[in-house]
Amino acid sequence: MGFKHYSVGSWDMKTMFHCCLFIFFLGGLATLRFYKSTNIEPLIISKVSVIPTTTTTSINTSTQVFDDPITLKIAPPSLTDSCDLLSGRWVYDNKTHYPLYKEHECPFLNGDLACQTYGRKDSKYQQWRWQPNGCDFPRFDGEAVVKRLRNKRLLFVGDSLNRNQWDSMICMLQSSIPGKKEVNTTGTLYSFRAADYNISVDYYWAPMLVESNGDDPFNHRAHLRVIRSKAIEKHARHWVNTDVIIFNSCLWWRLPTVTLLKSAGSLMGAPDQVVEVVDSPIAYNMALETWSKWVHANIDTSKTKLFYMGHTAAHAWATDWGGKKQETCYGETEPMTDFRFWEIGTDHHISRILESSLSKLKAKGVNVQLINITQLTQARRDAHPTIYRKLWRPFTEDQMKKPHSISDCAHWCLPGVPDLWNEVLLAYIFPTPAIARQ
Ligand SMILES: *[C@@H]1O[C@H](CO)[C@@H](O)[C@H](O)[C@H]1NC(C)=O
Ligand SMILES: *[C@@H]1O[C@H](CO)[C@@H](O)[C@H](O)[C@H]1NC(C)=O
Ligand SMILES: *[C@@H]1O[C@H](CO)[C@@H](O)[C@H](O)[C@H]1NC(C)=O
Ligand SMILES: *[C@@H]1O[C@H](CO)[C@@H](O)[C@H](O)[C@H]1NC(C)=O
Ligand SMILES: *[C@@H]1O[C@H](CO)[C@@H](O)[C@H](O)[C@H]1NC(C)=O
Repeated sequence: MGFKHYSVGSWDMKTMFHCCLFIFFLGGLATLRFYKSTNIEPLIISKVSVIPTTTTTSINTSTQVFDDPITLKIAPPSLTDSCDLLSGRWVYDNKTHYPLYKEHECPFLNGDLACQTYGRKDSKYQQWRWQPNGCDFPRFDGEAVVKRLRNKRLLFVGDSLNRNQWDSMICMLQSSIPGKKEVNTTGTLYSFRAADYNISVDYYWAPMLVESNGDDPFNHRAHLRVIRSKAIEKHARHWVNTDVIIFNSCLWWRLPTVTLLKSAGSLMGAPDQVVEVVDSPIAYNMALETWSKWVHANIDTSKTKLFYMGHTAAHAWATDWGGKKQETCYGETEPMTDFRFWEIGTDHHISRILESSLSKLKAKGVNVQLINITQLTQARRDAHPTIYRKLWRPFTEDQMKKPHSISDCAHWCLPGVPDLWNEVLLAYIFPTPAIARQ
């Protein structure tokens, strides 16, 4: 029986997720207060030009999505070279191929993200298609991807949003992989294996990349972030021998400060430790420096493709889009109509630090492709699990009276928005010819 280890993994993840949520909310609160008091954030960046809405369904289904490399040599420039897939708009489309899979057909889908199963009644959020401005997306072809993934290992590393994306990837692929499939969880490593095809799609829990007091998926403190800014090897030794690594780390840096542990001993605290409290962006920069050094020294980019997922919106404050105070994304069933929307808590400082780290690495010959999903997540206030998710312990009656305050507005229902992140990711991993807009 293929899934016999899954129940263990599922419990781990449930707990991990719960902790994460809790942390996120504290973090979100603190971040917002921080920005409100310092008033350093521009409210809206109107960089994306919005094209008048005309529903385009011109996907040529006979086009081979992942052509073999020989064909590619004579093929037109690849999609990712010729088109900015990430600038575009959401188009309601119940005629083509979304959602890419059905919630109940994915046995590996974690309950935290299975919104319909846990009571969400509306499903329109599953039918928005991302329309890049300059080209069309090829139709997702699971079998073609699976064929090219044989004998490969993909690894997601980071926080629970990367786990969200890992769940999405498994659900997108699993129905196209015949034979035995299973998820096995050992500590911080979550492993999806399709033995007959020798495909591994793994996820490694390291919410701050370097060692931190959040490293235990279930047992960590929410109100204080402690890191050892130069220590990464304990995690990173699990990242070698991988064909593709997809990193992320953002959510956990959204508190105003981070504590650096400068002496030996437990990150969970001990007497007589030497610590220094610094602003979060400074600590993030240190962590990325350590991460960059590791990547530079240990990854051969001719063998391993590297990606870093950009930061995502978390719709915890309805006032950002004209809603009432104390309200969140709960009850939202439509995306924002203005796709130029930016929420107030969006952390541009952190984004700059990430971009600068990646360009320094590039100067040393290590290409880590940023997949900047910030803009495309901004509009999707409708796509979060809110209260429709498997719970660690049931909400109390009092809590149920205030659904806004117990809603998860950071993660994403599946099928849903992360499926698109994976489509973009796959377009980079397996270059496909561009499809001109018709
Ligand atoms: C779709 O693509 C195939 C193969 O590239 C091509 O032969 C065919 O003419 C295209 N169909 C349309 C409607 O563009
Ligand atoms: C698709 O959406 C349109 C507009 O909302 C609706 O009229 C139509 O019934 C929907 N079709 C399906 C198959 O759900
Ligand atoms: C199985 O996949 C791994 C990557 O996960 C690869 O290193 C190994 O060579 C593959 N085994 C075979 C027999 O191809
Ligand atoms: C799960 O992982 C553990 C630890 O790596 C290993 O001992 C066990 O054999 C794995 N189980 C399967 C079914 O792969
Ligand atoms: C991503 O793109 C937006 C503009 O859409 C920009 O503001 C942001 O800084 C970029 N970078 C990252 C790391 O997300």
